[in-house]
Amino acid sequence: MTGRVGARPIRTDRLDLEPLRADHADEMSEVLGSPELYEFIGGVPLTAPELRTRYERVLAGSPDPAISWCNWVVRLREEDRLVGAVQATISPGFPGPAAQIAWMVGVEWQKRGIAKEAARALVDWLRRVPVRGVLAHIHPDHQASAAVAAAVGLKPTADSHDGETIWRLSFDA
Ligand SMILES: CC(C)(COP(=O)(O)OP(=O)(O)OC[C@H]1O[C@@H](n2cnc3c(N)ncnc32)[C@H](O)[C@@H]1OP(=O)(O)O)[C@@H](O)C(=O)NCCC(=O)NCCS
Repeated sequence: MTGRVGARPIRTDRLDLEPLRADHADEMSEVLGSPELYEFIGGVPLTAPELRTRYERVLAGSPDPAISWCNWVVRLREEDRLVGAVQATISPGFPGPAAQIAWMVGVEWQKRGIAKEAARALVDWLRRVPVRGVLAHIHPDHQASAAVAAAVGLKPTADSHDGETIWRLSFDA
């Protein structure tokens, strides 16, 4: 793999994963506006202008040219509205590049399989990028996120980072 990887549109049965744009911030500030979303990942809801500033920074890319920040918002087609976000940070590594992935779904749309459907599509996309594998950092008490990771083929490892368990899926096997 040479050069940076950019997010591309991804379509699933119910969802459109749209590459992040700064103008997604207004709608996303509502989707991500519930404090309980941050229980395990830290942080607080951001206002629309704060989120737009964050999105502009993310879209400018990592200061390290070897690292790709790929971000999508998740649109639920039947409601024609944004309901969440997924991301992948692709870094060079040994024996090849790996992607750290994460997901968020607005409280109103949770428990409908949206995170699983979006994460599955993201992992399939990453397999074709290609990367050698994916990993996720998940708080040990976060059952919903662990269920998403397990559903898309990641397995918990004995490794942890900042108190979060590292889950991995290798595409090599
Ligand atoms: C983690 C999160 C994305 C799950 O979103 P979701 O769309 O509700 O997930 P799904 O509907 O695809 O469900 C995935 C699994 O989690 C389970 N689940 C969902 N919410 C749950 C909850 N509050 N408690 C326990 N299990 C839960 C579902 O039953 C399902 O399990 P199953 O596969 O055994 O049926 C969502 O809770 C969230 O955005 N949390 C805050 C952000 C966050 O912590 N992200 C993780 C960063 S890695």
